[in-house]
Amino acid sequence: MSFGVKMEYSDILRVGSAYLISAFFLMLTLPPAGLTQGVNTGGWQLVTSTDEEPTWSYGVTPSAIDGSTVFNLPGVDLSFTLDEIRNPFGPADWFPGEHPTMPEIVANGRYPDVWSCALCHYPNGKGRPENAGIAGLPSGYFAQQLYDFRDGLRKSAQPRKFNTSTMVTIAQGMTDEQIQEAANYYASMPWTPWITVVETDEVPKSRFSLGMYIPLEDEEAGMEPLGMRIMETPENVEHAEVLRDPRSGFIAYVPIGAVEKGEELVTTGGAGKTLQCSICHGADLSGLGLIPGIAGRSPSYSVRQLYDMRQGTRRGTSAALMQPVVTNLTVEDMINIAAYVASLPPAE
Ligand code: HEC
Ligand code: HEC
Repeated sequence: MSFGVKMEYSDILRVGSAYLISAFFLMLTLPPAGLTQGVNTGGWQLVTSTDEEPTWSYGVTPSAIDGSTVFNLPGVDLSFTLDEIRNPFGPADWFPGEHPTMPEIVANGRYPDVWSCALCHYPNGKGRPENAGIAGLPSGYFAQQLYDFRDGLRKSAQPRKFNTSTMVTIAQGMTDEQIQEAANYYASMPWTPWITVVETDEVPKSRFSLGMYIPLEDEEAGMEPLGMRIMETPENVEHAEVLRDPRSGFIAYVPIGAVEKGEELVTTGGAGKTLQCSICHGADLSGLGLIPGIAGRSPSYSVRQLYDMRQGTRRGTSAALMQPVVTNLTVEDMINIAAYVASLPPAE
């Protein structure tokens, strides 16, 4: 394991629970799949004592790692417990020297409704596939999105996408001044490479963890067809999933041929099917005036946005400009377009 933690992640998964000893005995009698689920994936564990919380009766899955477990990153002179790393009102800041001073609302949010932006989007605004990369967005665009979330003009077309609803609650709880501070802060940092696009027809079998694809391990590991989708997964699972390391980026697996098909649509408009993106997003697609950059950003995020705009659930005033772009696009077109756009380097 390449990262130095006071207790290694793999150790915690394997020996972190006192119940594991009983689980080992059970291994002799249970089929391997049952044990893998119980011990390795944070799923059910064998309960043997008589006065444990009846977690099963609440229908929630116990967490694989105890919240008080201490972690650190190689070369970083800081350590945080898991509960500190994921604290919605002041999450870990692993690299305080690598970004300007965070405004209070970005670093700590405001209890109870406004969670710290840094929790999901990271202190450097890189974000994760299930939320959004928000560094380097024009501040006027950034602020407008928060007003659109607040005013019911921007929601997910997928009602079960819970974190978009959280984003709405957050925007509703912010003052105009806090919106401006957050917008200025994230706009002050440029968007830099964060995602590697890889064309493939086979991907690791995976599970979803908080909206992010995580490859399965041990007996459950294997390959499966990608099909017509984009699978965005951490470069380093432990760094992304557990440590929220804002330097650990993502790989986006896209269908073979997607980048070239996307390039055709993006640069020519596909003979009237859509519009050339550079007209509004700038020659290098890194943004123009109030229009956001789209180069080198999460392709799963981009597909969602294009689809939300086509479905009309993202319908802020400026989203009207995107209507002629998305109306005739199929989801397959959106995947190709997003794959190409994500593969472009963001402008310096
Ligand atoms: C619980 C996680 C979470 C937190 C905390 C959070 N966001 Fe978000 N944010 C999201 C998600 C999810 C989206 C994307 C929604 C989608 O894809 O439907 C988003 C999108 C955005 C966008 C739109 C980006 C774009 O390119 O249009 C902005 C701006 C934004 N968030 C700002 C903030 C600010 C400012 C804060 C702190 C006050 C914050 N967020 C806190 C989850 C979060
Ligand atoms: C006529 C101008 C125009 C053209 C052409 C255009 N866009 Fe946009 N695009 C916009 C505007 C304006 C927004 C911001 C919408 C909003 O405020 O909700 C936007 C937003 C987006 C977003 C969401 C960005 C984010 O951070 O959430 C994506 C993705 C996007 N455009 C992709 C494309 C692609 C791909 C093309 C070409 C196929 C394209 N756009 C062509 C004007 C345009």
